[in-house]
Amino acid sequence: MNATMSLKKIDHFSVMLDQILSIITPQHGGTFIDCTFGAGGYSKAILEYPNTKVIAFDRDKSVKHFSKALEEQYRNRFKFYTEKFSTLNSFVKKDVNIKAIIFDLGFSLMQIKNLDRGFSFESKGPLDMRMGINKFSAHDVLNKLNQSQISSILKYFGDEKDHKKIAFQLARLRKNNKILSTDDFVRIIKKVKKNNNFTKKNVATKSLQALRIFVNNEVSELIKGLIEATKLLNPGAVLIIVSFHSLEDKIVKYFFRTYSEKSRNPSRYFPKLDKEDIRLFSCPIKKSIKPSEKEILINRPSRSAKLRYGIRNNKKYFFPKELTEKFKNYLEIERMSLHL
Ligand SMILES: C[S@@+](CC[C@H](N)C(=O)[O-])C[C@H]1O[C@@H](n2cnc3c(N)ncnc32)[C@H](O)[C@@H]1O
Repeated sequence: MNATMSLKKIDHFSVMLDQILSIITPQHGGTFIDCTFGAGGYSKAILEYPNTKVIAFDRDKSVKHFSKALEEQYRNRFKFYTEKFSTLNSFVKKDVNIKAIIFDLGFSLMQIKNLDRGFSFESKGPLDMRMGINKFSAHDVLNKLNQSQISSILKYFGDEKDHKKIAFQLARLRKNNKILSTDDFVRIIKKVKKNNNFTKKNVATKSLQALRIFVNNEVSELIKGLIEATKLLNPGAVLIIVSFHSLEDKIVKYFFRTYSEKSRNPSRYFPKLDKEDIRLFSCPIKKSIKPSEKEILINRPSRSAKLRYGIRNNKKYFFPKELTEKFKNYLEIERMSLHL
């Protein structure tokens, strides 16, 4: 979701729920994994069909009251873990026959609406941005990493063209005072980009996105999540991902392109692969699915959503090394957090 959206307009909507239900067909029963529970919109909709079970994950402990309500309503059919989805296979037994695994990436409206958590540029509170189960916060990143590391984060995860100038100003200003609040950071960006005020988006959007991705290790999480899900799925089971920004979609698109029927050699630097060798999925729809105009009218943040899915074939799992190789620069940047 986008930090520029109005925080007052809407309560909660599950993005592309109808499309997801039509792909996973819960009316025929089965066990489903909701990797990003949030307010539980997908889980609840699936559980409304008899003969279904849902195993759900969310790294944010603040969603517990939603999961508790479902646990009470659907005893024996719903199980929730406050865990990162990258650890999926430590919690789901191998012999459970999963029908579909769903990822609805990014942050929830509840997270951005809570101004104390520092996700929104409207936040005046501490610079935090932790979704949950994090070792460091945005405050640590901006006060402890060096200028060039901060510049790389803004460039790679935010596509921020003024990354160098912002990192320079930040390093200069923090010599006197720590950068404590989201507001402090936004003021630095506004100063650097004072001539860009005509843009429709808030000038801080890209930098805040970059910081959030880094704080939550979102690239590593997504790549590990795709790998863990692929390991777990039996032939015929579905993997669905809803993404919200271009970097997420780039990773998901590459993953399905490389490991599906239309797979092609991922890079000219790799030895030529027998195409048969790397097919793990079939993708009935090659392009992404987007929300309907009607959905966008009701829920404006859904406008940037893209849904992609694949059906696991009977090829034995192998480690998708092309994926980690392709995004190694991003993974390396996230590893800078080891210095924190
Ligand atoms: C867009 S919301 C999901 C909304 C949900 N589909 C619904 O209908 O209510 C994304 C959720 O995923 C969670 N999340 C993000 N990254 C995660 C990760 N690596 N592991 C577990 N949960 C994650 C966030 O905490 C957030 O609650």
